[in-house]
Amino acid sequence: MEFVENLLQAVDIARQAPSSHNCQPWKLVHIEDRRMRAQLLPAHAWAEHGQLLLLGIDRKRTLRALPSLALEMQLSCGMFLGLLSAAFDALGFHCNWHWLEMLEAQAPAAMPFLQSLEQGHGCRGLVLLALQPQRVPDATAFAGLQDSVRQRRTHRAPFAEGSCSDVVLAQLLERHWPEQLTGDQLHLRVERSPALIARAADLVRQFAALDFSSYRAWKETYRYLRFDPRKPAEDGFYLHSLMGPMSPLRTRIMQCVLAPEVMQVLRIVRVPHNMAAQLAALVEDSAQLLLCSLPSDDLASTVMVQAGARLMEVWLNAQRLGLALHPLSVMLQHDRARGQLQRLAGGNGRIVFFARLGAIRQRHGECLRRPLAAIIETHGETV
Ligand SMILES: Cc1cc2nc3c(=O)[nH]c(=O)nc-3n(C[C@H](O)[C@H](O)[C@H](O)COP(=O)(O)O)c2cc1C
Repeated sequence: MEFVENLLQAVDIARQAPSSHNCQPWKLVHIEDRRMRAQLLPAHAWAEHGQLLLLGIDRKRTLRALPSLALEMQLSCGMFLGLLSAAFDALGFHCNWHWLEMLEAQAPAAMPFLQSLEQGHGCRGLVLLALQPQRVPDATAFAGLQDSVRQRRTHRAPFAEGSCSDVVLAQLLERHWPEQLTGDQLHLRVERSPALIARAADLVRQFAALDFSSYRAWKETYRYLRFDPRKPAEDGFYLHSLMGPMSPLRTRIMQCVLAPEVMQVLRIVRVPHNMAAQLAALVEDSAQLLLCSLPSDDLASTVMVQAGARLMEVWLNAQRLGLALHPLSVMLQHDRARGQLQRLAGGNGRIVFFARLGAIRQRHGECLRRPLAAIIETHGETV
């Protein structure tokens, strides 16, 4: 099989990764140009039949309304990288990750070449993925992965009754992917204490309105809401996947009510606060919360991307166990909210991901994704 066919299959899996607002901020450059490859990586770093991919954050797709979204872009790309690597592994490739932050220190001469690549392809590079065909493809592993990523969805409805046993929680956190990919920095904690969950829900009640009432942040979110299910889209989310099924008339009304300018006016009658209260009720009703933190506030992009890959591994474990996640990023996007949540969690690290966790009650089939051709670019041979 031609490498390009493997690449398409792997990206078809990776593009199912979750991302903030479903903005899918990733770009993948297949570096075919031998001279460019030689400038970026020393010859010993890879073999003759190897292939090289650059994963970066697509500058045009980057969310920017709040500073913390920069971290979310890295986490989202890490999730993409996790799935991409797992897919290549099932296809029989050996993967090697060259983190660009480290390359900067190790091979400064490569930097101008990297920069020209980034400029030419409109992205901020994160990692070079070197691939080497090594084994026969494992069709069963590939089909299993494909099935899990297609089934996995963000679960915004109430969860099914019941909490997870210790055995299930241990399986949830199991490691299957190499540490070179997922790092060892992300600390995951599943909170089951009803008292703590109730206090976290109070914080959500207190702070989640910030999401809806900040004009700048909400304007960016609103751009990703899709109101007409008949209109094809490749990113963002349909309103009914956020708020449940609704009639066309109600959808039209919500389109007006949620418009950023209208939302500003509705602050007077505390509509954002009512929406925050609904979210808090969902949190209160959850049997578990997932809190993920990193040791320090110095969040290098490598650490963030690795954390994203680790989260993806856990999210897939969850899917296979019949569990689902619902991230609540608003609590991390504002310093005061995050500070209070961190104090409640009692840790001294920085929380980078916070979600409800519970048993899947209903499956949502819908998922908007960009076409493969929009994700992959080729940096070809120059003559
Ligand atoms: C870093 C990150 C933050 C997210 N934050 C939220 C959030 O605050 N609220 C929410 O409802 N979904 C959140 N999501 C879920 C995305 O909206 C979801 O992944 C995307 O719409 C694609 O849908 P899917 O996960 O069902 O495939 C987040 C996802 C990621 C990766």
